[in-house]
Amino acid sequence: MTELELIIDLHKNSERQGPGSEKDTGRALDLLNLPSDQTLKVADMGCGTGGQTISLAKNLNGQITAVDLFPEFLKELDEKAQKLGLKDKILSLERSMDDLSFEKDEFDLIWSEAAIYNIGFENGLKKWKDYLKVGGYLAVSEVTWITQSRPKEIEEFWKAEYPEIDTAANKIMQLENNGYSLVGYFYLSQDSWMESYYKPMQAGFETFLQRHNNSELAGKVVKDYQAEIDLYQKFKDYYSYGFYIARKDW
Ligand SMILES: C[S@@+](CC[C@H](N)C(=O)[O-])C[C@H]1O[C@@H](n2cnc3c(N)ncnc32)[C@H](O)[C@@H]1O
Repeated sequence: MTELELIIDLHKNSERQGPGSEKDTGRALDLLNLPSDQTLKVADMGCGTGGQTISLAKNLNGQITAVDLFPEFLKELDEKAQKLGLKDKILSLERSMDDLSFEKDEFDLIWSEAAIYNIGFENGLKKWKDYLKVGGYLAVSEVTWITQSRPKEIEEFWKAEYPEIDTAANKIMQLENNGYSLVGYFYLSQDSWMESYYKPMQAGFETFLQRHNNSELAGKVVKDYQAEIDLYQKFKDYYSYGFYIARKDW
């Protein structure tokens, strides 16, 4: 198996593939003012195994197109949706989020938790805007500095990892510059990282290693994730995922 295949295998049985929780999805949904008398068209970009897709399907009168690059994740989502009787509301689509063939103005709502970074925040805002109706909503979570200054070690790590990391004020300015106005913002709690994402991942390390006969590459995957968790624990007061809820104005 390649390193990417191992990473997919580590994540595919998890509820979430990034920081976030049912509570956060609900809080973001509460900030929207969506019409309740019509069936909404919703896209969930980078859905993974669909933790948030299922919440959206439970809480919205809508048809959700759940997009991800990896069929292994979509298969998990399809099985969950089937079990929960939500199959009619969710269509999974194996596609890259920057190579979509949706119609102009097709969606009332575009959702994306912990995934827009794959194509860059501002690039995503621009690319997805065409698919959203004027007056429709964008709800995205994006890694964000939560203080104005920070230790050099974490600043350098993130600048190398994802140079677009910024403060909420600058992310909101990017939204405004691209025709969206902010409806609400909050950042994820430390529990949304540790309890919902990192701890369940850590609980699977041992069986993951066994499944792959303690191979060197599987060991490297675990070591790399553990280093990411250690870094988070050391610097968790300086960054989080910001959840941005915005309306398309023009
Ligand atoms: C950090 S995970 C978040 C998954 C899920 N939204 C969640 O919060 O649990 C990022 C997701 O983006 C997907 N992804 C990465 N690059 C992508 C691309 N170019 N197009 C679509 N999905 C992509 C990954 O497969 C993964 O499921």
